[in-house]
Amino acid sequence: MPTYDGAMAFPQRRLRRLRRTPALRRLVAETRLGVDDLVAPLFVREGITDPRPIASLPGVVQHTRESLRKEVAELATLGVGAVILFGVPAVKDARGTGASDPDGIVQIALRDLRDDFGDDLVLMADLCLDEYTDHGHCGLLGADGAVDNDATLDRYAEVAVVQAGAGADVVAPSGMMDGQVGTIRAALDGSGHDQAVILAYAAKYASALYGPFRDAVDVRIADGGDRRAYQQDPANAREALAELRADVAEGADMVMVKPALAYLDVVAAARAELDVPVAAYHVSGEYAMIKAAAERGWIDGPAVALEHIGAVKRAGADLVLTYLTREIAEGLS
Ligand code: PBG
Repeated sequence: MPTYDGAMAFPQRRLRRLRRTPALRRLVAETRLGVDDLVAPLFVREGITDPRPIASLPGVVQHTRESLRKEVAELATLGVGAVILFGVPAVKDARGTGASDPDGIVQIALRDLRDDFGDDLVLMADLCLDEYTDHGHCGLLGADGAVDNDATLDRYAEVAVVQAGAGADVVAPSGMMDGQVGTIRAALDGSGHDQAVILAYAAKYASALYGPFRDAVDVRIADGGDRRAYQQDPANAREALAELRADVAEGADMVMVKPALAYLDVVAAARAELDVPVAAYHVSGEYAMIKAAAERGWIDGPAVALEHIGAVKRAGADLVLTYLTREIAEGLS
């Protein structure tokens, strides 16, 4: 019978033992990705009769009302429980009027989906003006041509109330105005929508990875402009924590970091510091890079997709908004 011999070298820990078989690896996996973690971003366009492909987002389309309902029904069958809607209006103007029109395209789509799915589906609406403004900025422009923070807040409040009225469970302000969460919370509470959830795009960076999204919503920022005066500088992580804390203090129910992969340090820091659910948005450019390289046969697209979204969860995200939702759900089912 072997006895403990104090003089014997302590047995070397063999880390590979637990990696030997798929069953062992499955047993000890620290992170699991499931359909419950995923939110599908979907585009719905006013005034079209057939869904339109988006060249820079292969596999993603601008939906008609009808094709959106069908897509969400298929997602629901796959077990996906949440979607976030983005609208593409037929007409854009300086104030982004369509965003708060009760008969605007997103509001119509919210009512359709609420009718179809009741409370079985978490319905989110992106809350911003850029899809609806003719200058492509996320807010109203002041006389100096810069985005006017406080005038924009009044518009966000109107949009929030209309989206909640149309059936959004969750409104997701993405414009990065100071005070947007508190303003929206007050507007929702003051209009009988105290149960409407706010998912704050809290740490949203001025990223070059949003290009395909802007194709998807037909946004071109006027005069070759950009969003660096309101979205965050990619150089800054401490500032992201200030944004995240401010949004929670103002009443955010959930917070988001965006984009995902280049900001996993921020996701991890948010998870460590906050007790609200943390979301991460795996954005259009992140998706497009996988698709482009896979199309050339340079990477195994589905494997990279799982590795990337799994890494976002491992870093600490509770939920992931991703254009990969459908294909991951198909793979898991
Ligand atoms: C703004 C908004 C953007 C995205 C989501 N909400 C674009 C932007 O900030 O320029 C980008 C999402 C993506 O790239 O997938 N309404």
